[in-house]
Amino acid sequence: MKRKHLIRLGAGAGAVLGAAALAWAGTAANAQDNSADNDFGAQVIGGQPAEEGQYPWLVGLGSAGEGTPWERQFCGGSVISETVVLTAAHCVEGTEDAAELVVFSGSVDLESDAIVETAVSDFHIAADYNDPVAMANDWALLLLSEPVDVEPIALSAEPEEFDALETAGWGNTGEEYPVVAEWVEVPFVSDADCEAAYPGEVDAASMLCAGDLANGGVDSCQGDSGGPIMTPAGDEQILVGIVSWGYGCAEAGNPGVYGEVADFDEDIAAVLDEWGVLA
Ligand code: ARG
Repeated sequence: MKRKHLIRLGAGAGAVLGAAALAWAGTAANAQDNSADNDFGAQVIGGQPAEEGQYPWLVGLGSAGEGTPWERQFCGGSVISETVVLTAAHCVEGTEDAAELVVFSGSVDLESDAIVETAVSDFHIAADYNDPVAMANDWALLLLSEPVDVEPIALSAEPEEFDALETAGWGNTGEEYPVVAEWVEVPFVSDADCEAAYPGEVDAASMLCAGDLANGGVDSCQGDSGGPIMTPAGDEQILVGIVSWGYGCAEAGNPGVYGEVADFDEDIAAVLDEWGVLA
């Protein structure tokens, strides 16, 4: 547990910039508040353990090297083609060499024997990451050294207002970094409400917000970054966003902010094309 925290903070140190820095500061403050007056919900925050196969495309992004998958996982990601993972730019911005990164796929349980570790052979960070505001266009693509045998998720191509959204990952539940990924349903928050919550920090074009504005209690959190926020489409799910930032986690008035996939799906397709990968 200790060790994981150290690794995670190390990874996060590369990700502090503008809103991200405040997001981390907010979380540190939360952690302290917890001992005094703990109104931090049990539990992603407010969620429950995912079932095996619930999100086949959900992967953990980790550091290459020694340690268990749980110890090395520091962000989430989504498989969008058998050799490509979509994650957050802030998860990989400190990476100098793709060989530093691995992807864990195949199970929601990071201690399962079914977990497959795959090396990353190349990565691409959005050219307009942090433009026009900090954390804008927070997306990156990882090219895997070999295909993973999981169902990819389709990307949303239309920015819209959603009824049902759900997010999942191995991030902080408020109590721990879980071994089994958690998932939670989060209400959609309009651009106007999100801009009001975070004046001057929201790029409505490339960001989408979700959370229970009035009550808090449900959210993604540190360690979930890069992972999916999804909406059902028939009996499938579509990837609408990428866990990006927030002030603290699950606080009333402070929604979670996500990269809005429909804003950059064409840029993503262009990178896949460049890599010679079929979407
Ligand atoms: N930046 C965080 C990470 O690196 C994700 C924070 C999400 N925060 C939120 N309140 N939804 O894992």
